[in-house]
Amino acid sequence: MKYFFVSTPIYYVNARPHLGHAYSTIVADSIARFHKLAGDTVFFLTGTDEHGDKIVQAAQKAQMDVQRYVDDISSSFQELWPHLEIENDDFIRTTMERHKACVQYVLQKVYDSGDIYFAEYEGLYCYGCERFYTEKELVDGKCPDHQVEPTRIKEKNYFFRMSRYLDALRRHIEEHPEFIQPERYRNEVLAMLREDLGDLCISRPKTRLTWGIDLPFDTDFVTYVWFDALINYISALGYPGDDRFRKFWSGAHHIVAKDILKPHAIFWPTMLMAAGLPLYKGLRVHGYWTVGETKMSKSLGNVVAPLDMAQRYGVAAFRYFLLAEMSFGQDASFTEEALVQRFNADLANDLGNLFSRTLTMTHKYCGGRVPECGELTELDREVLSIGHNALANFQGQFQHFHFSRAVASLWELVRHLNKYIDKSAPWALFKAGETIRLNTVLYVVLEGMRKVALHLWPVMPSLSEAMLEQLGWKWDLAAVDLEGETSSWFGLQPGTPVAASSNLFPRKEVVAAPKPEPKTAAPTKEAVDFEVFSQLDLRVGTVVEALPHPQADRLLLVRLDDGGTEPRQVVAGIAESWKPADLLGRQVVFVANLKPRKLRGQVSQGMILAVKTKDGLALLSPTSPVPPGSVVS
Ligand code: MSP
Repeated sequence: MKYFFVSTPIYYVNARPHLGHAYSTIVADSIARFHKLAGDTVFFLTGTDEHGDKIVQAAQKAQMDVQRYVDDISSSFQELWPHLEIENDDFIRTTMERHKACVQYVLQKVYDSGDIYFAEYEGLYCYGCERFYTEKELVDGKCPDHQVEPTRIKEKNYFFRMSRYLDALRRHIEEHPEFIQPERYRNEVLAMLREDLGDLCISRPKTRLTWGIDLPFDTDFVTYVWFDALINYISALGYPGDDRFRKFWSGAHHIVAKDILKPHAIFWPTMLMAAGLPLYKGLRVHGYWTVGETKMSKSLGNVVAPLDMAQRYGVAAFRYFLLAEMSFGQDASFTEEALVQRFNADLANDLGNLFSRTLTMTHKYCGGRVPECGELTELDREVLSIGHNALANFQGQFQHFHFSRAVASLWELVRHLNKYIDKSAPWALFKAGETIRLNTVLYVVLEGMRKVALHLWPVMPSLSEAMLEQLGWKWDLAAVDLEGETSSWFGLQPGTPVAASSNLFPRKEVVAAPKPEPKTAAPTKEAVDFEVFSQLDLRVGTVVEALPHPQADRLLLVRLDDGGTEPRQVVAGIAESWKPADLLGRQVVFVANLKPRKLRGQVSQGMILAVKTKDGLALLSPTSPVPPGSVVS
């Protein structure tokens, strides 16, 4: 029995899931499913990376308590994956106890073996990247990622003696070409190893950052996020004690994009060496998705939301497009037009037509059951040979992460089956009463379709199962013999009923993104003197408690810290848009000098300001946290 372990990066919780995250995770899911089809025992891991400055800053920006913030974003990842038919075996979060314990265990082990030392360091630090930069790495004196000048800091920190393992790592990469693939990234890493990489700073003083895992040997420091995050790959397997680690680690494959090559290709293997652990088996590095020709970024407002795409075009279309379009290792461009075009050409036309015409013919000519296969002619044997080749290529390419090539191989079979139908003209055979020949042709095609559908399971799981069901083939993962599929053509049982028709891939059109609401400015009110306006005392308060109003569904009792000794209660008509829990910790603007009044029996001391939108009420709040009670001027 072979064990196969595959992981995605664990994603930072400072942004909601987007196309890039979806791609890596779909790749991991597909390769996991491929190995399941091949009969391997599989463990597929994904998760979220939740410590460090970046996350604290994002929580502050969202005006949320850090723990609540990370819980919220982490669940948006966990909730998304099933919608994309992603079936991970575990979801690891770096804030989980089981992970923390494992990180501390590894740190202590490496410390005890003498590979962690304490030293003073002065350098240029980028808070965005959470790392020190050398002068050489800066572009015009600025961090190339964040375009800000790094800050010079001098501090004492713990260092991992990475330099001690770099030679051994270089040898390992040279002797194991499969360790880092595609080749261009292997070469990139070998080039990095020719530079003087030195040691790795692995701590952050608590005076600067507390949101992290304590060093077990000095609790004045927390662990550097990368040293913490990389260990997720083994903490999830229950290292050190668990049997899963012993079983799965030797077959471990990590999927990452090119942005995080260095930590995975250099930090992680040297950390494993220092901890006395075997290295992972393979690092598979893919390129970046751009949107059209443009980098995807929040500030450009072109971030592609995977759920929107799956809802607009279907999960199958989305997964198929991503896997077929990107040549693994290179960058690729995403547009909805390209997705639709590919869907219509490959799935609606080639595959969809093959299914609908063949099933219709099977009903018209063979009573809706898989016919008997007679003696094979030269033409049939050509189908079998092209088919077996295409499937063997598909399997070989898929296994090596060449997904676009794998799909292209499979489509050689799909297209050939369509041509074979045209050439054999079953309708003419029917007319001529050549039943045995007619049955043979339809059998050859139906079996080819079954093979295509089965091989598409890693790419589009539920549609593959639906196709197989239409062919009357009972889906049973344990019964699949993937290797056998490339040598025998007789999987379908004659006599099995098949579906009367098929419309699994109706043609698609680009769906226009929902238009922004037309601007509907409310009619302006009569002008007032400044004095009138200045009579209003507008202030900022922090929500410390929020409860449903006992007598009115629309109202909430919101208690605000307004800088005074006691919280101030405001009765707010916001219950339809806001759950009490989502208000906690939020800062809002309120009118502080409104005369108190009773609303359904509860005293309200002020009024919270909000904007009515089509999605409900948006609350007014400062762009960065301010002391409670601050005056709005
Ligand atoms: N938290 C670290 C990873 C730690 S792993 C021990 C991190 N997180 S991240 O949220 O920034 O995710 C980076 C990863 O997201 C990339 O390596 C890639 O898998 C995916 N992508 C993010 N943007 C992408 C594209 N535009 N295109 C393709 N994938 C990209 O780095």
